[in-house]
Amino acid sequence: MDVAQGGDPAQRNLTTPSSRSSSSVGIGRWGFLLFLNANPSVTLVGAHAGVNATMSAMNIEATMVSYYADRAKEYERIYHKPERQDELRRLRGSVERAFAGADVFEVACGTGYWTEIVVRSAASVLATDINEEVLTIARSKPIDTQKTTFRRVDAHDLPIMPQRFTGGLAVFWWSHVQKARLTRFLRAFHRCLSPGATVVFIDNAYVEGSSTAISRTDEHNDTFQIRRLEDGSTHEVLKNFPTESELRATVDDLAEDVQVEFLRYYWILSYVPKVGA
Ligand SMILES: C[S@@+](CC[C@H](N)C(=O)[O-])C[C@H]1O[C@@H](n2cnc3c(N)ncnc32)[C@H](O)[C@@H]1O
Repeated sequence: MDVAQGGDPAQRNLTTPSSRSSSSVGIGRWGFLLFLNANPSVTLVGAHAGVNATMSAMNIEATMVSYYADRAKEYERIYHKPERQDELRRLRGSVERAFAGADVFEVACGTGYWTEIVVRSAASVLATDINEEVLTIARSKPIDTQKTTFRRVDAHDLPIMPQRFTGGLAVFWWSHVQKARLTRFLRAFHRCLSPGATVVFIDNAYVEGSSTAISRTDEHNDTFQIRRLEDGSTHEVLKNFPTESELRATVDDLAEDVQVEFLRYYWILSYVPKVGA
């Protein structure tokens, strides 16, 4: 199985987004709409197709946010799979080399697995995630606190920051962004970076028999998996597996020096954002 352990496509009894206050920033933006959506007796005034599409996007993201909050403690098991160790070693080396001396902005850092790697060679790292649950684990690691700051930030609503970073990193994040939102995310991400910055994305390649099966494809061509957690709960999570040509097409207008490498289990994309893109 891929990122999730033991996803069971037969399960259709999906867990709805958690209402725990610890996830409230992520869900807060949309909490009111989600409440309306969850209550069939409430009619949206002026509801139309655009509103429905927005609601669906909000549900997809809110479900993912609460899923990763619930999964925080068991998350790093994905890094223990024996057959993936060679590739992970190679990727760790690439990340360490790519950001030597850089001031790095990392989005969706999770439990800080990659933060710990990048900070070895970087000058500084601002590592961000929407979930306090994963950030708490990241902060508990023996990571150089002089060089690293963990902060709760929504990757889809990046704040204006005084600092411009010379590196941008996101691991296992691209696959969780709806295809229709990728360009908007990338443009906002690039605005946080200085001219000539290095950007690296790493994510999963789909491996038949190893990856969690795709449970459905929606009308926007986004794909989903059913993930099961240790407590038995199941969650439908957006997980896209772009091809090399899709990756290249997505960044075509926005980037130069584009390099894509597909390993067996992972892919790595690196580039320099075009100035102003
Ligand atoms: C697959 S995990 C990757 C974690 C880490 N980058 C790693 O590779 O170990 C995806 C992460 O995205 C975070 N996330 C989900 N929605 C987010 C959002 N809107 N903004 C920032 N982080 C988000 C989750 O909390 C989770 O930690």
